Amino acid sequence: MNILFVGDIFGSAGRRIVREHIGHIRQAHAVELVIINAENAAGGFGLTPQLAEELFDLGADVLTTGNHVWDKRELIDYMNAAPADCHERGRRIVRPANLQPGVPGWGVYEGQTQSGVDYAVVQLQGCVFMNTTNDPFHAVDAQLKGITAKVIVVDMHAEATSEKVAMGWHLDGRVTAVLGTHTHIPTADERILPGGTAFQTDVGMSGPYDSVIGVEKDLVLHKFLTGMPGKFEAAKGNPKMCATLVTCDPATGRASHIQRIMLGE
Ligand SMILES: [Fe+2]
Ligand SMILES: [Fe+2]
Repeated sequence: MNILFVGDIFGSAGRRIVREHIGHIRQAHAVELVIINAENAAGGFGLTPQLAEELFDLGADVLTTGNHVWDKRELIDYMNAAPADCHERGRRIVRPANLQPGVPGWGVYEGQTQSGVDYAVVQLQGCVFMNTTNDPFHAVDAQLKGITAKVIVVDMHAEATSEKVAMGWHLDGRVTAVLGTHTHIPTADERILPGGTAFQTDVGMSGPYDSVIGVEKDLVLHKFLTGMPGKFEAAKGNPKMCATLVTCDPATGRASHIQRIMLGE
């Protein structure tokens, strides 16, 4: 069974390049499960219900988010409108599972592919160099206790490479894949860990690479050079789609292959 995980979609350039390529990738690899990190889909900051609908229309089964999940407040109503035990689109958006108790949304989604394979998608957010959250390591242990699916994909949304690598080892043999997001730069360390878990430190951004991690480069340079605040805007140039393809045994959830994909115009 093939799973496609698309890295952080950034702004209109990211949405366009993913729209251009996702169809032929899904077809060429007979992809059964599509997961897209959409935390930057709306101009780089958050996700709107309308853009979520667009990504579901493109074939996404589950959307993950991250630290930008609340940037567009209308997403909260969209998520809240879906009951916890349903499979509506609003329920198929996940936010980090280790946020403070009582926040909207869910950190885990459990569904079934068209061919009848049960799967779960879990999202975690790192603690290092990020806003305060609960410890993702103990949080994921608690989440896994409630999951019966064998095919489990974890989006580890974190800044520090060390924390993401550590999470890979922590979950090796217990989940199908641990894929990093958030830093927007694809890493070349994709591998199958000894216990059968596919791992990559960061899938990379699907967005404009003539930028500073998606933002118009002149605006970021101005901030670095002057220290003055300024409004960040999404760049447009040199869009690339970054995604990772994981092959696993649907009966056991063990991964057998992991492949990076980077496609431009
Ligand atoms: Fe991101
Ligand atoms: Fe992020």
